[in-house]
Amino acid sequence: MIKRTAKSSELIRLPRHIAIIMDGNGRWAKRRGFPRIMGHRQGVKAVRSTVRLCRELNIEVLTLYAFSQENWGRPKEEINALMDLLYDYLKSELDEMLGNQISLRAAGQIENLPERVRTCLLDTIEKTSSNTAMVLNLALSYGGRAEIVGAARGLAHQCLSGTLNPEDIDESIFASNLHTAGLPDPDLLIRTSGESRLSNFLLYQTAYSEFYITPAFWPDFDESELLKALFEYQNRERRFGLTNEQHSESCTAKGS
Ligand code: FPP
Repeated sequence: MIKRTAKSSELIRLPRHIAIIMDGNGRWAKRRGFPRIMGHRQGVKAVRSTVRLCRELNIEVLTLYAFSQENWGRPKEEINALMDLLYDYLKSELDEMLGNQISLRAAGQIENLPERVRTCLLDTIEKTSSNTAMVLNLALSYGGRAEIVGAARGLAHQCLSGTLNPEDIDESIFASNLHTAGLPDPDLLIRTSGESRLSNFLLYQTAYSEFYITPAFWPDFDESELLKALFEYQNRERRFGLTNEQHSESCTAKGS
């Protein structure tokens, strides 16, 4: 069972930010003799249930890797189908996002999305921007290396224009030039379908994330799968490069 504090039913040591590489839609479909798009369609259901449970558990940020830069190389019909699913998802979930105080954000080169999807995305981001309970961050047309290069380019421009001194660039300034500016780094990174790769996802932000890999294909990632991941996370010891003793002392000092 997932851990709770002794005094209350409040869940303890939950991640502030969960990031998920949703993988295995195609294989889920293939095993059943369905076209790949059926796997993506079923994957949207897993997106819905995961967002709901994260919100119930008061997770602050959920980042979902929905479409990578590399995914543009997939067959045109699959790309179109994924864009349609994204569009339909945004349309159908707006009321739930508003009702549950969920604010939508996006990371990635969203200028590359088809105009209809981009407009709907920006509109949903705008309409949900004052919601404060949870951030749902969709990584779309996202590539971690491109994000880092973009941040470096932006900082170089600021230095050239004289608004920034190169000596003042530190990790916090660098992070504020990434697409995840203002969000805490992911505490827990989940990847489904048993693969153990980052696949160009949040390369900068996952420096100290705990990795959890499940063999389940994304369409099968239900509430019990998320709870299993959270249970394992609760039992991990995160030392951030310190020794055991140093880490325990710093936790005592912080009261965590
Ligand atoms: C990886 O599975 C999954 C994707 C490339 C797309 C993920 C998209 C969704 C879950 C649906 C749309 C998203 C939202 C947020 C509405 P794969 O196709 O690479 O699977 P495979 O490795 O088994 O082929």
